[in-house]
Amino acid sequence: MVGQQALTELAKRRGFFFGANEAYGGTAGFYTFGPEGAALKRNVESAWRERFTLRLGNEEIEAPTVMPEPVFEASGHLDGFDDMLIECAECGESHRADHLIEDAVADIEDAEALGVDRVEELIREHDLACPTCGAALSGEPVEDFNLMFETSIGPGSGQPGYLRPETAQGIFVEFPRLKEYARGQLPFGVTQIGPAYRNEISPRRGIIRVREFTQAELEQFIDPEEDEPPLEDVADVEVTLYPASEQNADDGDYIQTTIGEAIDEEIIGSPWVAYFLGVAQGWYERVGVDMDRFRFRQHLAGERAHYAADCWDAESEVGGNWIEIAGFAYRGDYDLRKHGEHSEDRFTVFKRYDEPKTVERATVNPDMSALGPEFGGAAGDVADALQELAESDPDAFDSNEVTVDVDGESYTIDTDVANFSVEEQTENGEHITPHVVEPSFGVGRTVYTLLDHAYSEDTVDDETRTYLSLAPEIAPTDVAVFPLVGDDDLVTTADDVADELRAAGLSVSYDDSGSIGRRYRRQDEIGTPFCVTVDHEGLEGDSEPTVTLRERDSASQLRISVADLAAELEAVLAG
Ligand code: GAP
Repeated sequence: MVGQQALTELAKRRGFFFGANEAYGGTAGFYTFGPEGAALKRNVESAWRERFTLRLGNEEIEAPTVMPEPVFEASGHLDGFDDMLIECAECGESHRADHLIEDAVADIEDAEALGVDRVEELIREHDLACPTCGAALSGEPVEDFNLMFETSIGPGSGQPGYLRPETAQGIFVEFPRLKEYARGQLPFGVTQIGPAYRNEISPRRGIIRVREFTQAELEQFIDPEEDEPPLEDVADVEVTLYPASEQNADDGDYIQTTIGEAIDEEIIGSPWVAYFLGVAQGWYERVGVDMDRFRFRQHLAGERAHYAADCWDAESEVGGNWIEIAGFAYRGDYDLRKHGEHSEDRFTVFKRYDEPKTVERATVNPDMSALGPEFGGAAGDVADALQELAESDPDAFDSNEVTVDVDGESYTIDTDVANFSVEEQTENGEHITPHVVEPSFGVGRTVYTLLDHAYSEDTVDDETRTYLSLAPEIAPTDVAVFPLVGDDDLVTTADDVADELRAAGLSVSYDDSGSIGRRYRRQDEIGTPFCVTVDHEGLEGDSEPTVTLRERDSASQLRISVADLAAELEAVLAG
């Protein structure tokens, strides 16, 4: 197991990631992906796109990252997207109050669920001190701190806006157009890969908790009464589950099962959530997560986000700790209903019945002249209130008079004046609000997990070497090409070989500096699966030129003809 410090050092040394803005003292919670890290991250995103967008027949969009305030009033983030903050009066440092409790009290794993008052009490009871300066925190208040970055849209005082805290909202607000694009047919899925922003109180553990990060999210829109996922595709997939019931039990343990059995035994309630866990299990394995250090953990009741009815996290073990790398939430109709209530647009789809239905509809047709003078300006609203009453409580029209309330005033009307009747109508369908199932992946945390799980050490030629056994699909570079020494003929041939491999679509690194051993070590440390060395032996005589091909994990070499090289590499890299 590699420690966080060793991995962070390698990441910095080899250009995977490093703290941003270091020339200006650095900015906590912001990281730059260097050339190797950016390539690795791009490959993870491409593999995700291939599996969760293209293969599932979904559509991908790219929405703005800044959104106006009403979006977040509707989504609930303005009111509910808070963490618990405690500020040290002595040194002015802010800390996550719930994290302080979790670090200090052995049997509390989810302090956030306890609420502000209880966390404040626990800080007093345990006499907790500021981790930065050691001053006592027991006299300080714990507050809810909203995690969204606020901005102003346009010059002057502008319009209040926020950097999106999840890419999902960019999909939800465009639902009225996206449903047209899907021709109003459920189920359909929309994905987005892009940045999300959270003003984390205490960013920590390198790129694991940062203030700007990339999410890859899929919003699956379903009719909860009709749509079933293709469970047969994942029924046999084996998973390690850690349901809430096991977490709550004294002797709780993991459950090793298949997706099919987990549904049959009601360990996972939603078939859609189960389906995506199955797809995700295969994907994580494919990109190189060590599945012995991977589990799906169900959220405890107090842990769920404000929109989620049920949620499972994909968690990986890195440096001895479990971290959440993706969430799979059943969001119900929460998001579309809220945006429908807060905006002028329609966040529903029209669900056509197989056969038209004949329904009885209660209507009123009030004599407006009778309502007119007596009811003044309220006549129209009274008529609307009568219609609402006819639909909700038709029996109210059995008596001689009916009473409705409008703006706090009660109006009593003769039932004859209301002209109540029940008519038969033919309906072809109804407007329904789709439900949403959401697999939401953190790309940075996936990258970190892949680096951690790929980190390996062994001994080659009596020297300890470090190498990253990254899956070839994900490795930043496919192949490195070296001339053994700087002779012209070797350099020319190596240049030609590198060009030919690039033309075949491979990502190629060319390196002619330093000893050959050091060049191999450099490529091992960035996880390059193959190295090609052009030497004199391969260019001797009249026979076909050959090169050596070295495989990263075994460090073994074979001699191969230059003419066969591109095809051979393409075949092994494609797996
Ligand atoms: N739309 C649902 C949503 O945003 P989330 O569990 O808050 O759910 C999804 O975030 C994923 O985004 C997490 O599983 C994690 O991988 C990643 N993530 C969340 N906050 C993060 C942070 N501060 N730094 C890095 N990654 C983060």
